[in-house]
Amino acid sequence: MIEFNDITKFFTSGIVRTDVLNGVTFKVNKGEFAAIMAPSGTGKTTLLNVLGCLMKASGGSYLFEGQDIETLNDDQLSEIRNKKIGFVFQTFNLLERTSALDNVLLPLVYSDVYPADAEKKAGRLIESVGLKDRINYKPNELSGGQQQRVAIARALINDPSVILADEPTGNLDSNSAKEIMEIFRILHKEGRTIIIVTHDINVARSSDRIIYLKDGKVEKEEVL
Ligand SMILES: Nc1ncnc2c1ncn2[C@@H]1O[C@H](COP(=O)(O)OP(=O)(O)OP(=O)(O)O)[C@@H](O)[C@H]1O
Ligand SMILES: [Mg+2]
Repeated sequence: MIEFNDITKFFTSGIVRTDVLNGVTFKVNKGEFAAIMAPSGTGKTTLLNVLGCLMKASGGSYLFEGQDIETLNDDQLSEIRNKKIGFVFQTFNLLERTSALDNVLLPLVYSDVYPADAEKKAGRLIESVGLKDRINYKPNELSGGQQQRVAIARALINDPSVILADEPTGNLDSNSAKEIMEIFRILHKEGRTIIIVTHDINVARSSDRIIYLKDGKVEKEEVL
C-alpha cells in the first residue's frame, strides 16, 4: 500500500545543500503497524512529510495505494492528504480556545462536504479515546495525554486508511505515552495502517516492525 523506492530528499539554503534522505526503500502493507526509527535531527519529520504528501521527494518513486505520487497534481495530493491520511504530531497541534469537539470536527470544516452526522461521529471518536467527559474542554484545560487523544480523534474523523504519527509521545510522561501507544494498538487491530516515526526505541518496540534509518538510508529492519 505504501512503497518508497530509492527516495531522496535534499534542501538547499543559499549555496548550502543538505542531503537528508539518501535513497530510502521500504514497503508498508495495508494493516501493518510499523515504526521508523532514526536519531534526532536525521530526517524523520522530512520522511513523514514525504509519506504524508506534504512535501515532494527530490528523487525516487513513491507509490501510495498503487498510485505514483509524482504524477498527481495539487488537488489530487490534497485529496489523498485529507481523505486517506490521518496525521498525529508531537506537539498535538490543536486549536486553542476551541473545544475538543470542535478540534475533532476541524478537518471536516475544511472539506467540501460536512456530513449531517458529523458531530455525532466526532462525539463517538472522542468517546473512543476515553474523553467523553471532556468533550467541551479546551486544550489548555486538558493534560498533554488528553490533548494527544483529541488529536488522534481528529486524525480519525475522515476515516483515513493510514495514520502517520511524528513522535506522538515525545511530549508525554511515560504513563500517558503508554496509553497513547495502546490507542494506536487498538486502531491497528481495527485494521488501520499505522506508521510512527520516532527516535525512542521503547515507542518503536510497541509496533510490529521497526525500520531503522541511518545516514538517510534504511540500515535494517526488525520484525517484532
Ligand atoms: N525546510 C527545510 N529547509 C532546509 N533544511 C531542512 C528543512 N527541513 C529540514 N531540514 C534539515 O533536514 C534535517 C533533518 O530534519 P528533520 O526535521 O527531518 O529531522 P528529525 O529527525 O525529524 O529531527 P527531530 O528528531 O529533531 O524531530 C535537518 O538537518 C534540518 O536542518
Ligand atoms: Mg522531527
